[in-house]
Amino acid sequence: MLNLKKLAFVGLCSLFAASAMSAEAGFLADRHATRGVACATCHGVAAPEAGSTVETKQCLGCHGSLKAISEKIHQRGKAQSPDPHVNHSLGLNCNECHRGHQKSVNMCSRCHIFEYKVP
Ligand code: HEC
Ligand code: HEC
Ligand code: HEC
Ligand code: HEC
Repeated sequence: MLNLKKLAFVGLCSLFAASAMSAEAGFLADRHATRGVACATCHGVAAPEAGSTVETKQCLGCHGSLKAISEKIHQRGKAQSPDPHVNHSLGLNCNECHRGHQKSVNMCSRCHIFEYKVP
């Protein structure tokens, strides 16, 4: 009986951990890994070295274009304003905001007071 209770408790905890994971936890690369995106799919090599980055064209290979990303967000009616994917910084790399293995950043805030939450 005691064991059963213990098991049920452990079960609940892992359920909670699993749902928290899928919602928020982990960095961008971790969240892609749970969707089956391998290291090599972003990096082009299976074992990226220190100092590696990912080129914007790799991201766009799956995500299409900045315009497509924007439209998808707008369709859901949850867009942040002004639109971070439509701006005057032409040629902006995804990585200037979206970080792979660390907290993402809002590069616009170098000059503007925009309160983006960057996934
Ligand atoms: C192999 C395809 C693939 C590549 C390469 C890829 N993504 Fe994704 N990405 C996905 C899929 C699939 C999802 C989940 C569905 C969606 O939100 O579009 C996703 C979701 C996201 C999300 C929203 C969900 C979250 O967990 O934050 C962001 C932001 C994102 N990708 C950014 C990037 C960036 C930046 C790069 C390049 C560094 C990149 N992706 C490379 C396939 C890819
Ligand atoms: C100026 C910062 C910035 C740059 C640069 C940027 N993003 Fe984003 N991205 C954001 C923010 C902020 C969000 C959350 C937007 C929202 O919810 O309105 C987001 C959301 C996303 C999403 C999730 C879309 C969804 O359906 O929820 C994807 C995918 C994405 N970005 C991909 C990219 C890719 C690929 C690039 C490069 C081509 C890129 N982003 C460049 C700030 C940026
Ligand atoms: C969604 C795309 C994506 C995936 C998947 C991904 N990475 Fe990365 N990785 C990045 C980005 C973007 C950077 C640039 C640094 C940053 O933003 O954290 C990076 C940087 C790195 C670096 C250099 C870090 C440094 O500080 O020098 C290494 C090493 C690395 N990745 C290893 C991996 C390994 C191993 C995997 C698979 C387990 C992986 N990456 C999967 C996007 C990705
Ligand atoms: C290096 C500084 C700098 C960065 C970084 C920057 N901006 Fe700007 N931005 C400016 C300046 C300067 C203006 C013009 C100021 C004005 O007219 O008020 C401006 C104007 C704007 C405007 C108003 C345009 C208009 O017609 O009124 C928007 C919207 C904007 N920026 C969005 C962004 C977004 C989104 C980002 C991040 C992707 C960003 N900016 C990054 C300097 C910057």
